[in-house]
Amino acid sequence: MKKVLAVFMSVLMLMQLGTMSQASDFSGKLDKNEWEAYYNSLIDDNTLPMLNVGADETQVSLCWHADKDTAKAQVKLSKSADMSDAVLFEGETTPAENDLQLVCRVTVTGLTENTTYYYQWNTGKGWSDAKKYETKSFGSHKAMVVGDIQITESFYDGGQEQKDDGQRWNNFLVEALEKNPDISYLVSPGDNTSTGETAAEWQTLLMPETLRSLPVALAIGNHDKKGMTYDYYTNMPNEYYGRNFRGLDRDFWFRYGDVLYMFFDSTSGNAPDHRAMAKEAVKLNPDAKWRIGVVHHGIYGAGDSIGDMETEILLKTIFAPIFESFDLDLVITGHTHSQGRSHFMNNTKVAEEAPSGGTFTNPKGVVYLNSNSICGRPTDESYEAEHLAYSFLENDVPTYSTLEFNGDTMTLETYRGDNSELLDTITIIHDEEYKDKSFGNVLKRILYKVVEALGWVYTKIDYLVRDIQAMKEDGGLFGKKKRSFN
Ligand SMILES: [Fe+2]
Repeated sequence: MKKVLAVFMSVLMLMQLGTMSQASDFSGKLDKNEWEAYYNSLIDDNTLPMLNVGADETQVSLCWHADKDTAKAQVKLSKSADMSDAVLFEGETTPAENDLQLVCRVTVTGLTENTTYYYQWNTGKGWSDAKKYETKSFGSHKAMVVGDIQITESFYDGGQEQKDDGQRWNNFLVEALEKNPDISYLVSPGDNTSTGETAAEWQTLLMPETLRSLPVALAIGNHDKKGMTYDYYTNMPNEYYGRNFRGLDRDFWFRYGDVLYMFFDSTSGNAPDHRAMAKEAVKLNPDAKWRIGVVHHGIYGAGDSIGDMETEILLKTIFAPIFESFDLDLVITGHTHSQGRSHFMNNTKVAEEAPSGGTFTNPKGVVYLNSNSICGRPTDESYEAEHLAYSFLENDVPTYSTLEFNGDTMTLETYRGDNSELLDTITIIHDEEYKDKSFGNVLKRILYKVVEALGWVYTKIDYLVRDIQAMKEDGGLFGKKKRSFN
């Protein structure tokens, strides 16, 4: 009986392997079983690479973990799938969050538009499989916005929720990219992870095979800020550490074609450094046609984000003057897990209404796009707000937005993430030169100096409070952490 059983089991295993090899293309939507097999094959590791946007459209960066003894920060790039005539790019290794590994970071430069490349990274055990990366047009192009990916931790249920998050994230990306194969890169306003403390959150986030060929730019959210892993798993361009930032705090910017993106860490009230980063980015990119801000917290977002002290005082006082004075066109936000878009805002008021479907030429305000959540943990919040031009009420349905740039025109579209039905669209035409207000008149500049001083004081107090909280949590991290959804 034992022999018969052994033969039967062997046949079963072979059949299973056959099924696995047929399903070994993990680049499409995966059902529960397919995802489980894929997830289980990767979750005990933390070495998947992140493909990040570069400082401009001719660059991309990679970041991955490798064994300390063999790690080499090297990437090979070729125009052939067989990697012939490959060019070697070398970067740097830095300490990881553990003693066994190093973090490898490499920036690939000199990319040209509409070109198919293949790349490999040095895993420390040899070269990885070759992955394809196709550049699109550098002028007219399309970006994708997704919010609060927020891959959860595994502490509460043995990993099931994390596994489900991964599948949802994978299939969401496949849906969006199948319908929009011309997307060049992905922008996220933060809360990429849930605790910011585990490698498994990043490993799960990086599992979708689509991310091997889609550079990402990820803001820091309050959930990422709970730990330090963002520091070890990302490689963002032009990171700005300022004079008062500490730990994970940082802003960064990048340029793609005609667009300048500025990412602000909205969990930091450090006004002097936020302003300094914007000033530097704008100064270095005077010819950018579009200026876009990305912050985690929604200043004029959807959901119940208006009216609380944090939003009203901290965000509006510190960030809105920066956005308005540097003439930003669009600010991308998240945090509330509620999809919505504002009218054109200026000085805390609706400067121009922006109903869905409209085209607006040289509007006199900033439009705010608040994205909902990929993680499937919707919040139950109100939607009534004077500043909102559009809001999507089905918070449990993920959404994505596309930004399409074509000369003087930017078209912003928002879609359901499950079937890509169009929900909201506006077009902005921008045929005027920027007129930097440099914080407006003398009175406005003086007032912002006061904001900078208060922001500096707030930052110092915030650090003190965090230090005290960290001391309290020492020794009881897993059991004592309070869970919040946004
Ligand atoms: Fe958040």
